[in-house]
Amino acid sequence: MSEQNHATISAFVTGLPKAELHLHLEGSFEPELMFEISKRNRIDLPYENVEEIKAAYSFKNLQEFLDIYYAGASVLLKKQDFYDLAWAYLEKVASENVRHVEVFFDPQTHTHRGVPFDVVIEGILDALNDGKKKLGMSSYLIMSYLRHLDEGDAIKIFHEGIKYRDEIVGVGLDSSELGNPPSKFAEVFELSKEAGWKLCAHAGEEGPSEYIWEAIDLLKVDRIDHGNRCLEDEKLIAELSKREIGLTICPLSNDKLQVVKDLSEHPMRKLLAKGLKASAHSDDPAYFGGYMNANYTHLAAATEMTRNEIAMMAKHSFETSFLPVEEKAKYLDEIEGYVASNSYLEIMPPKTRQIFSL
Ligand code: HPA
Ligand code: ZN
Repeated sequence: MSEQNHATISAFVTGLPKAELHLHLEGSFEPELMFEISKRNRIDLPYENVEEIKAAYSFKNLQEFLDIYYAGASVLLKKQDFYDLAWAYLEKVASENVRHVEVFFDPQTHTHRGVPFDVVIEGILDALNDGKKKLGMSSYLIMSYLRHLDEGDAIKIFHEGIKYRDEIVGVGLDSSELGNPPSKFAEVFELSKEAGWKLCAHAGEEGPSEYIWEAIDLLKVDRIDHGNRCLEDEKLIAELSKREIGLTICPLSNDKLQVVKDLSEHPMRKLLAKGLKASAHSDDPAYFGGYMNANYTHLAAATEMTRNEIAMMAKHSFETSFLPVEEKAKYLDEIEGYVASNSYLEIMPPKTRQIFSL
C-alpha cells in the first residue's frame, strides 16, 4: 500500500463522524499514565520504564494479553486514578471526530483487589460528566462481567451496579472466552435485562460460533462484541443479519491477538458484504497500537476498502449504538452529507484526490 493511499484514506476517516462501541477503559491505560499512577500509589510494576512496558506488548492469544492487562490495571486504587484514566481516553478520542462513546469498565478487576465499587464508578462517571461539559463528548457506560469468574461473583457486582441503574446503560461479558460460554451467565443477564439495561457479550473472538448463538438466543443480547467467527455458520449469519444485531469488530486487536493471520486477511469486507451490521472499534488501544482512526485507516488500507464500505462502518456504529432514534438519524444524515460533499478532498494531498473515487 502506498504512502499516498494511506494519506488519502486517513483524511477521509478523520472527517467521518464515528461512534466507539467497543472500548475497555482499562485497555486505554497508556504506559506513561500507568507509570505515573504506579509511582504516586507506590505500587511497583515489573518494568523499569515506559519502553520496557511497551516492549512487553507482544501477544500470541487473548490470555497472554489479559495477563498483562490485569497487571497494568493493578495500580488503579483511588477515585482520582479512575478519573484520570477515563479523562485521558475522552480527550484522545474527542480529537478524532468520535462523536459518541459506549465504554466498558471491568469492576471485578478492581473489587477483587479490595478497591470499592463506588470508588471505581464514581471516578469514571465524574470524567464522563466532565467529557460532556468540557469536550461535548456524548457517552454511555457499560458494566462488564468477567467470564473467567463464576456467575455468583457477577451477581454480586450486579447488586453493586444496580445502585447506579440510571448511570449505566447496559452490561457486557468479557475476559477469557474459551471454556467460559455465555450460558454460564444466563441468570445474571436475565437480572440485568429485568433491570432495564441493554445487553452485550463478547463472543466468537476465540470461541466458536455456538457461543454467538448462546449470546443471542439465551442471553438475548442487543449487540455482539467481536463475533468474527459467525462466518463459520451460514445460518447464524442469516439470523444476525435478519435481527440486525451489531458486531463490534476490532481490527488492530484481531491482528495483535492473532485472531487473523494478517490484517490484509481481515474479514470485515466479507461481513459487510453479507449484510451484517459490522463496525470498527479499538478494544484496548493502549495495548494494540491505535485508537478509532488508526483502526479504520489501517484496516481500510490493508484490505483495500472502498469509500462506501468505510462510511458503512461508521453508519453501523451509530445504528447499533444505544442512542435514541432521533440522535441516530441525525448522525446518519451527517455521514451521508459528508460523503456526498467531497469536502475531505480539500484536506487530501492534491495528487491523491483521483485515487479515492469509489
Ligand atoms: N476480549 C475479551 N476480554 C477483553 C478484551 C477482549 O478483546 N479486552 C479486554 N477484555
Ligand atoms: Zn473487547
